[in-house]
Amino acid sequence: MKLAKDQIARQFSRAATTYDTAARLQNEMAKILINAIPEHATGKLVDLGCGTGWPLRQLANSGKYEITAIDIADGMIDMARQKVPQINFICCDLESTPLPNAFANVVFSNAAIQWCNTAKALAEINRIAKPNANLLLSTFGPSTFVEIRKAWEEIGDASDRIHKFENPQSIEQLLQDLNFEEITIKRESRQLIYHSVDDLLQSIRNLGATNASSNRQSGLLGKERYRQFKSVFETRLAQSNQLELTFDCIFVFAKTA
Ligand SMILES: C[S@@+](CC[C@H](N)C(=O)[O-])C[C@H]1O[C@@H](n2cnc3c(N)ncnc32)[C@H](O)[C@@H]1O
Repeated sequence: MKLAKDQIARQFSRAATTYDTAARLQNEMAKILINAIPEHATGKLVDLGCGTGWPLRQLANSGKYEITAIDIADGMIDMARQKVPQINFICCDLESTPLPNAFANVVFSNAAIQWCNTAKALAEINRIAKPNANLLLSTFGPSTFVEIRKAWEEIGDASDRIHKFENPQSIEQLLQDLNFEEITIKRESRQLIYHSVDDLLQSIRNLGATNASSNRQSGLLGKERYRQFKSVFETRLAQSNQLELTFDCIFVFAKTA
C-alpha cells in the first residue's frame, strides 16, 4: 500500500486534540521503552514521531538528555510543544530528516514507524545515530486490527487498501542488514474491549489511525459497504456483548555498530 504522507500528516493533525484520551496503550508501550533505556545513556536523544508528547515529557523530566523531537503532523507538534516548550521540534518525515550523520546517542520512537516505509525509517535511524547508540522502538505487527480486516473480508471487500503492518522477522532482518547489534525483539498481543461499535471506530479515529481501518470508497457504494462493515460488528456485539480490537505490539531494542 502506498503511504500518502500528506494524508497521514492531515489525519494526525486532526487527531491531535483527541489523541491523549485514546492513547492509554501507546503510553504503556512508551513506559516499556523508557524503562529499557540503559541507566548510563545520556547526551542527544531523538524522538521520532513524537505525537502529542506524552513520552517526551517523561524523557525531558529525567533531565538526562538534550532532546530533538520529530513529527510529520504540525498539529501534533503544537500539542507536544505545550507540554515541553524547552525542546527542539522539527516538523518533517522521519524517513528523511535534516539531522546530521552520527547525531544521536539515543533514538527513541514509540508507535510511529508503522506509518512509514520500515526499511527507509531504519536506514534513517542508522544514519542519524552515533556509533554505539541505543535504539528503543515500538511499532505494531500484522495482527493489529485483525478484527477490522476480517470484517471487511466477511463482506467480500478486498483488503489490500487496509494498512499492512510489518512483521517482526522483517524488522530484525533489516536491522541485521544495517549491522545493528544486540538486537532484541519482543512481541505482545493486547486486546482493547469496547461495548459499542461507534466507540470502537471512534477510538481508532481519535488515535489518528483512520487509514489503518477504513477501506475508503466514496459515493453510494462506499456508504453501503461501510453500513455492511458496521453491521458485522453489530452482529458480533449482539453475540458476545463486547468487541475486541487487537494491537500486536512489537518492541525493538538494539545498538548501532
Ligand atoms: C500513534 S502516534 C504516537 C505518538 C507518540 N510517539 C506517542 O507515543 O504518544 C504516531 C505519530 O507518528 C507520526 N508520524 C507518522 N508518520 C510519520 C512520519 N513519516 N514522519 C514523522 N512522524 C510520523 C504521526 O503524526 C503521529 O504523531
